[in-house]
Amino acid sequence: MRIDMRSDTMTQPTEAMRKAMYEAEVGDVNAFEDPTVLKLEELAAERLGKEAALLVTSGTQGNQVAILAQTQRGDEIIVEASSHIVMLEGAAQCVLAGVQPRQIPGKRGVMNPKEVKAAIRPFLDPHYPKSAMICVENTHNFHGGVIVPNENLAALQEIAKEHSLRMHMDGARVFNAAIAQGIPVSEITQYVDTVQVCFTKGLSAPIGSILAGDKETINTARHWRKRLGGTLRQAGVVAAPMIVSLTEMVDRLAEDHANAKLLAEGLANIEGVEINVDDIDTNMVYFSMKEDSPLTVRDLVIGCYHEGVLGGMMTPEQVRFVTHKDITTEDIHKALEVINRVVRSKVTA
Ligand SMILES: Cc1ncc(COP(=O)(O)O)c(C=O)c1O
Repeated sequence: MRIDMRSDTMTQPTEAMRKAMYEAEVGDVNAFEDPTVLKLEELAAERLGKEAALLVTSGTQGNQVAILAQTQRGDEIIVEASSHIVMLEGAAQCVLAGVQPRQIPGKRGVMNPKEVKAAIRPFLDPHYPKSAMICVENTHNFHGGVIVPNENLAALQEIAKEHSLRMHMDGARVFNAAIAQGIPVSEITQYVDTVQVCFTKGLSAPIGSILAGDKETINTARHWRKRLGGTLRQAGVVAAPMIVSLTEMVDRLAEDHANAKLLAEGLANIEGVEINVDDIDTNMVYFSMKEDSPLTVRDLVIGCYHEGVLGGMMTPEQVRFVTHKDITTEDIHKALEVINRVVRSKVTA
């Protein structure tokens, strides 16, 4: 038995995706001659409510190209303190774009607009970097797949407009946010100038992200993608499964959310587990062990691993299980049995 809930990046491409790759019509992307890439970019732009879209190799590349295209060296970007851009992109925004991240700790990943406003440099002074951009993450990974409410996005957009800042969304899982709220994704992306969407997470494609925005920004982003070596040649084989993601894999994200809830509810009934079921917005389940539990998070993760249930230790106090296409409701029941057994073995040892 192997139930791999370390991440939704573990998803395998579907049969339809593999077939689409095989059959994809391709051409040279550098010459704008790959019909499948052009079709994907058009479909994605339309779905995200933006003028244009660009195929990029990864979420990290999409975020970084967005920053490069909308800032200048020495600028400052305002970004949530535990966002992927800050935590897990190798400080690329400092190394590549030469911008300084001004980090605002959010409440469950949601930045307080007042704090964002207060962080904007009041005027141009040789001491100050220029505030150039606000970055939000939706859903927020490290805070547990949390949805950033549209009212918050609207408030941040107003501030961005008032101060002539750009606004970027790391929307690696923005389709999860849309499905969980029962709204079109464009109702979320309307608040930002650019959005990066990962197709390799719940949407199950093997490679690729999309950066969407206005035409001018996307054209600038295309230059940066080239400079970063991200412009592939016959990339229709990459784009074809991404089209399947858009047409076949979005609505089913609701199953992952239901499975995450089920898992959280089951965990809440296990002695020693600390979890708030109401915190589960989408497909991520973060939890910890109560302080008086004889079992540490590390013991739990290792114990489950040996029984074929894989989760991630995010911090010494936090475990993460992520539901996705390759996890069934049956798997959730089996995983709960294993977790229960591992916990009991320690409690009764
Ligand atoms: C919120 C978020 N943004 C960006 C990324 C980066 O995506 P990639 O791994 O494709 O670079 C991830 C990946 O897990 C993510 O969770």
